[in-house]
Amino acid sequence: MTITVIGTGFVGVVTAAVYASLGHQVWGLDIDEKKVASLSASRVPFYEPNLEEMLTETQKKGNLKFSSDYSQAIPDSDLIVIAVGTPSALDGGVDLKYVMAVGESIAPYLKADTIVAVKSTVPPGTLTALAAVIEGKTSVDYETASLPEFLREGSAVNDTLHPDRVVIGARSKPAFDKLNALHAPLTENIINISPESAQMAKYSANAYLATRITFINQIADLCEKNGADVEEVVKAMGSDSRIGSHYWYPGLGYGGSCFPKDVQELAYFSRKVGEGDNLFNKIHELNQKRLGKLLAAYDQKVGGMKGKKVAVLGLAFKPHTDDTREAPSLYVVPKLNELGARVVGYDPKVLWQDSWGKLHQLEDLAAAVEDVDVIMILVEWPDIISFDFNLVRQPQKIQWLIDTRNRLDACQFVQQGWQYIGVGRQVNCDQKK
Ligand code: UGA
Repeated sequence: MTITVIGTGFVGVVTAAVYASLGHQVWGLDIDEKKVASLSASRVPFYEPNLEEMLTETQKKGNLKFSSDYSQAIPDSDLIVIAVGTPSALDGGVDLKYVMAVGESIAPYLKADTIVAVKSTVPPGTLTALAAVIEGKTSVDYETASLPEFLREGSAVNDTLHPDRVVIGARSKPAFDKLNALHAPLTENIINISPESAQMAKYSANAYLATRITFINQIADLCEKNGADVEEVVKAMGSDSRIGSHYWYPGLGYGGSCFPKDVQELAYFSRKVGEGDNLFNKIHELNQKRLGKLLAAYDQKVGGMKGKKVAVLGLAFKPHTDDTREAPSLYVVPKLNELGARVVGYDPKVLWQDSWGKLHQLEDLAAAVEDVDVIMILVEWPDIISFDFNLVRQPQKIQWLIDTRNRLDACQFVQQGWQYIGVGRQVNCDQKK
């Protein structure tokens, strides 16, 4: 099959590389010529484990090429996958201008029976609007489809090669047959539904996960007040097979480029159709308030951040990525500055961001935590949670360890003399069996 993936952002590059690894002829198309040049040389402009290796391999085999030229990539394509950005519009909805611009650009070059599949996260109704843009600019028969994406940053290659499911939204048997055959090597769990249901499935999956995180965060808040330990609660609750014990990590709230945006878009659409008095309109607000609330509590617990050396560990929005979109560090560092702390930051992959303000960023974790008063673990990077913090423990000094991901053995740190603060945790070391 000849496939063109349009938009070489995070999702587009991974998708193109995986299709190429299955032996298809793939074009990655982007109007940004700098990106195209970099990707053509197998250089990925962001950090994602295993992606650069996959690009190198597939390009060496001649299966993957990048271009900015629609007239070069589109005419031979049996499948066009649109994976461009869908930024939030000012009114809280989604801005589809890039998806529609792609429709205009591909229309003159479409070959007969091509499938134009939208992978970008878009609301139901988008395919009709897209077809209206393409109609009139082409004389061939083509089909539109929905191919929502469920990969996670940091494990994107693995998630795409071994997905829990592939969801295909289409309207005809030939379209389902072609798309099913394409994805058959990846999973047996291919779900054929209408495009509207596929688009809704994407929003509801993300909204559910965001709700789940918000739920456990609120349970953690109650645990702080009533003597329960959220990790013990999760253990007991998660054994119910209807609930499960994964994806229950409390913390400072969810971040990243997807959950905050998708939840707000779903809330916007629900208001638009007169269903505004619902869950989705509350989740974002609860998640946003959380950082401020917890930071104020930490400030109080440590006796004021003013004048203290605070090491902020983990500046990305989660481990195994250099993405800082909606990362807790973007709120935490400026807030600590405001509270008068001396802030030192460490992350294994993230580059400097202006929005931090005053931050002494170090590449060496050991140096970042030297002579520290407060350590705040924001992200559970393996090198951070496995670090031997006892090396910098000064017995004569009160030192705080704020573990916002609950990944450390609290009792071990208490025994070493740290003042340990987790999220919704009770540190009753004597009672541990
Ligand atoms: C998320 C979804 O998990 C993917 O399925 C989806 O394809 C993607 O959005 C998307 O729409 O493109 P991602 O944003 O990469 O993927 O990250 P997650 O690993 O799901 O984490 C999102 C946020 O939730 C992070 O801030 C993470 O720290 C937080 N989180 C996650 C928790 O606070 N607790 C948890 O138990 C899990």
